[in-house]
Formats: sequence, C-alpha cells, structure tokens
Amino acid sequence: MHQLDHPSDILAKLSGQTVIITGAARGIGAAATAIFNRHGANVAIADLPQLQDTAEALIRSLDHPERAAFKAANVMQWKL
Ligand SMILES: NC(=O)c1ccc[n+]([C@@H]2O[C@H](COP(=O)([O-])OP(=O)(O)OC[C@H]3O[C@@H](n4cnc5c(N)ncnc54)[C@H](O)[C@@H]3O)[C@@H](O)[C@H]2O)c1
Repeated sequence: MHQLDHPSDILAKLSGQTVIITGAARGIGAAATAIFNRHGANVAIADLPQLQDTAEALIRSLDHPERAAFKAANVMQWKL
C-alpha cells in the first residue's frame, strides 16, 4: 500500500468528526479508514456481509479501534 499525501489542514479538522466509508474492508476504503481514524475521526464502515471478518480485523488494527464500528451493507441494494 502506498503512502498518500494529505493536506495537513484537512487532517487537523478530522478530530471528533464522524466519517461513513463504504467498501471499507479492503483496498482504498480500508486505507481511508485507517487515515481518518488515526487523525481522530469516528469511522462508521460498511462492506458486504461476507467481508465482516476482514472488516473486524481492520478495526482491531486501527490506532483507535474504539472509534470504529462495522455495519454489513450492500450499497447496490437500497430497499429497506
Ligand atoms: N486501486 C486503485 O489504484 C484504483 C484506482 C482508481 C480507481 N479505483 C476504483 O476504486 C474502487 C475501489 O478500489 P479498490 O482497489 O479499493 O478495490 P477493492 O476490491 O480492494 O475494495 C473494494 C471494496 O468494496 C467492497 N464492495 C464491493 N461491492 C460492494 C457493495 N455492493 N457494497 C458494499 N461494499 C462493496 C468490496 O467487498 C471491497 O472490500 C474500485 O471501483 C476501483 O475500480 C481503484
């Protein structure tokens, strides 16, 4: 995974904010989750139900796992 460059003024505003990230168990979503969480944001992450174990492992790996929660969701299905 490559290190991304982030404008420091944006990162400084993340503390206490809540961010919702879909497709968060792997790839770009997982990388974004780790960055937001590291800078103090609460992260509400979602991914397909079969990725639950992967998402929970991601949460355990975060700097602040107490500020993260996973909800299984398929963003292609909008019916409640
Ligand atoms: N990796 C790159 O360099 C790159 C560059 C440009 C664009 N993209 C695009 O960005 C997106 C993400 O790329 P990535 O490399 O992180 O992919 P990835 O496959 O590693 O991660 C995508 C995540 O989205 C989840 N997902 C897929 N369908 C879903 C659905 N219906 N509901 C909820 N979650 C779902 C997957 O389970 C997976 O965890 C892709 O569309 C990709 O084409 C990637």
